[in-house]
Amino acid sequence: MQPIIKVKDLYYSYKDRHKTVEAIRGIDLEVNEGEIFGFIGPNGAGKTTTIKLLLGILIPQTKDITICSRSVTDPEARRKVGYMPETANYYRYLTPIELLTIYGKVSGVDTKTLKTRIDQLIEQVDLENDAMRLMGTFSKGMMQKVSFAQALVNDPDLLILDEPTGGLDPVARMKMRSVILRLKAEGKTVFFSSHELSEVELICDRIGLLAKGKIVSIGAVNDVLGGKASGQSLERYFLEKIGENT
Ligand SMILES: Nc1ncnc2c1ncn2[C@@H]1O[C@H](COP(=O)(O)OP(=O)(O)OP(=O)(O)O)[C@@H](O)[C@H]1O
Ligand SMILES: [Mg+2]
Repeated sequence: MQPIIKVKDLYYSYKDRHKTVEAIRGIDLEVNEGEIFGFIGPNGAGKTTTIKLLLGILIPQTKDITICSRSVTDPEARRKVGYMPETANYYRYLTPIELLTIYGKVSGVDTKTLKTRIDQLIEQVDLENDAMRLMGTFSKGMMQKVSFAQALVNDPDLLILDEPTGGLDPVARMKMRSVILRLKAEGKTVFFSSHELSEVELICDRIGLLAKGKIVSIGAVNDVLGGKASGQSLERYFLEKIGENT
């Protein structure tokens, strides 16, 4: 089976007048269809940069990124992808319903399907009472919920989420977790970055640990931790590995 995300020898540098930052320094990565993949690593490791490269928001120095069997530069590649950015910056004078309607229409969802889907999404993220309010008045967690719903509005096969649970209360986090698991049960693929290591440990089939733009370890959570018998937590593993790589 063809991996749904395939990255070979990925490099990326940010350049401005004063400085060049080598953010990504040779990443190889494959994510299989139907798996939940957790992307972890310290602040500044390059998680968001990698995600933006996967989505074609940043243009890679190498051409070798394939998502959904297409080159990332092919607009068709994005058609069945949902993306939740690290920071939700939506137009403050729209309501969640209006925002989801715009995103759904742009993605080509037909009007009838879209209406039903928006109702379902609003319910799934618990925004029934706020669906007609202007988003400029929303709390951080409420914006995260809108952003998650937005990522799902085109019924994507591949969901890419950048720190989805940041700012969510424990109930909302649990609900998001159950939506992600349901999507997996439907055969969808979820790739997400997170600092919530207990969350990652709980739901991911595989993880990738990134440090200073390179993948330090990758694999099934248990294998990375050295087998079930090791009894090691992902948090302890993370601290040890990052300690070795600083
Ligand atoms: N627009 C930019 N211009 C210059 N450097 C940038 C830019 N965006 C990110 N970087 C640099 O690239 C590196 C990786 O940043 P990135 O945002 O990918 O990290 P991250 O792993 O997502 O971190 P966090 O966990 O804090 O979200 C950092 O050194 C950062 O300073
Ligand atoms: Mg980030």
